[in-house]
Amino acid sequence: MDLTHRPRRLRRDRIRGLVSETSLDPTDFVAPVFVDATTDERRPIESMPGHERVPVDEAVARVEAVLETGVEAVMLFGVPRSKDPEGSRAWADDGVIQEATRRITAETDAYVITDVCLCEYTDHGHCGPLEEELRGDGVADERACAATLTVDNDATLDSLERIAVSHAEAGADMVAPSGMMDGMVGAIRAALDRAGHEHVPIMSYAAKYESAFYGPFRDAADGAPAFGDRRHYQMDPANAREALREVRLDVEQGADVLMVKPALPYLDIVASLRREFDHPVAAYNVSGEYAMLHAAAEKGWLDLEEVAVESLLSIKRAGADLILTYFAEDVARRL
Ligand code: PBG
Repeated sequence: MDLTHRPRRLRRDRIRGLVSETSLDPTDFVAPVFVDATTDERRPIESMPGHERVPVDEAVARVEAVLETGVEAVMLFGVPRSKDPEGSRAWADDGVIQEATRRITAETDAYVITDVCLCEYTDHGHCGPLEEELRGDGVADERACAATLTVDNDATLDSLERIAVSHAEAGADMVAPSGMMDGMVGAIRAALDRAGHEHVPIMSYAAKYESAFYGPFRDAADGAPAFGDRRHYQMDPANAREALREVRLDVEQGADVLMVKPALPYLDIVASLRREFDHPVAAYNVSGEYAMLHAAAEKGWLDLEEVAVESLLSIKRAGADLILTYFAEDVARRL
């Protein structure tokens, strides 16, 4: 028996830290924050224990609580006071994100990233205006509608430009387009530059999959599609090479940070982006990934803290530089 090699030598107490390849730091995390224009009190989000929607008046207090844990960045999501087919409250100067961003950037040091998308603002819940023939009373049968539904890509780009510029005017430090429209990064980059916001970076949801793990978020942000699904614009979970093509396009269009979403079921994609590109890679540990660990912990089947840390560590080990996660505050507090 040749035991020249004994890997256990390096697993003893006091040396494990020295040889550890990966570590977590509160500054790796971005904490999602939900601001709700339809309420004047905090509302817990049932499927995401510990998270709540806060009114605009409480946005600063909510962000201050995040900062206290050592986390320095937040991602803002908004629930507008009203919705319409175009999602026009998304770029309103007095919109929920614009108001919240102005206050948070004026009163705190948080790095504010805004989600640039339309699904929380359109009355049909899709990520952009629908193509002409599907609007209004044209389609009687809901299933037929779902089968042929398409978001109007190019019309959506105009809206995304307006949203991104309005967020930047309100003080957003970074914008994060999540709609998976073709050409969205280039359109937003050009619009920001024209408006004098050439220093505002873009974190593209570059490889965003059509995932069932977004379920709890759709309650949280009230953005579930009223009919159909998002497979006409979000990526097919079966595809890995396509992610590289998607990401390459965003890089060519000027994306500063490349995001993969969800995180845990897509660590192969995180790892391949790490290998193929030298941009910062972000991973979004989504609502369903958070909810399932909480549900199992509630039943006493898993130790919540342990599995949360292990999940985030594995995302980092796969190659993510930054992690968007609902565990941000809890894990940062523990570190
Ligand atoms: C909006 C958006 C979604 C998420 C982030 N931005 C929902 C969706 O695409 O349906 C999901 C986040 C999560 O599940 O935590 N486009």
